[in-house]
Amino acid sequence: MRYLTFALAKGRLAKKSMELFGQIGITCREMEDPATRKLIFVNEELKLRFFLAKAPDVPTYVEYGAADVGIVGKDTILEEGRRMYEVLDLGYGKCRMCVCGPESARELLKHQELIRVATKYPQIAKDYFYNRKHQTVEIIKLNGSIELAPIVGLSEVIVDIVETGSTLRENGLNVLEEVCPLSARMVVNQVSMKMENERIGRIINELKTVI
Ligand code: PRP
Repeated sequence: MRYLTFALAKGRLAKKSMELFGQIGITCREMEDPATRKLIFVNEELKLRFFLAKAPDVPTYVEYGAADVGIVGKDTILEEGRRMYEVLDLGYGKCRMCVCGPESARELLKHQELIRVATKYPQIAKDYFYNRKHQTVEIIKLNGSIELAPIVGLSEVIVDIVETGSTLRENGLNVLEEVCPLSARMVVNQVSMKMENERIGRIINELKTVI
């Protein structure tokens, strides 16, 4: 039997994902060592392999078939636009993609002003403003701490993830519009879905019973 390979987005989601897999008997002892620098982890009995990758790289591994299955946030799936099947909403990592800014920016949004939008998600922002709102904006790509942008005057608004809302609150910003809800998803390579339909199908069905 060939190995079935799982790519997990590093960080909060990965821990939750392994907990969920644990509930259906898919475990990986060597992954539980917090000090390990290993990149790939194997469960020999079940012929499974797991690796951790930066979230935006997970869809890349899955599209090319280097991973059969991926676990990644809907934000990353939308942003990367890779060809793969999204098969399951895992129900954790729930948050929202929002347009945020100071209250004063609400008027600018309403009147379709040519504003600047800072974001880690330029594709999502572009799709939202151009295709859904039909509003021309200037999109500025940042890599983190997006909330800084309106505070220091880089942009009027941001498109970013809001979970508890405390980052916004502590920086005097508000949710102005909601783009879409987000959560962790399971994605599958299109060829793997056919070739390994039985094994992957069983995992999907078992996960459904514990979600
Ligand atoms: C995310 C997001 C917000 C924050 C939202 O950032 O970009 O900044 O979490 O969470 P809250 O609503 O619970 O405050 P993350 O911590 O992933 O780091 P980043 O700013 O470097 O993207």
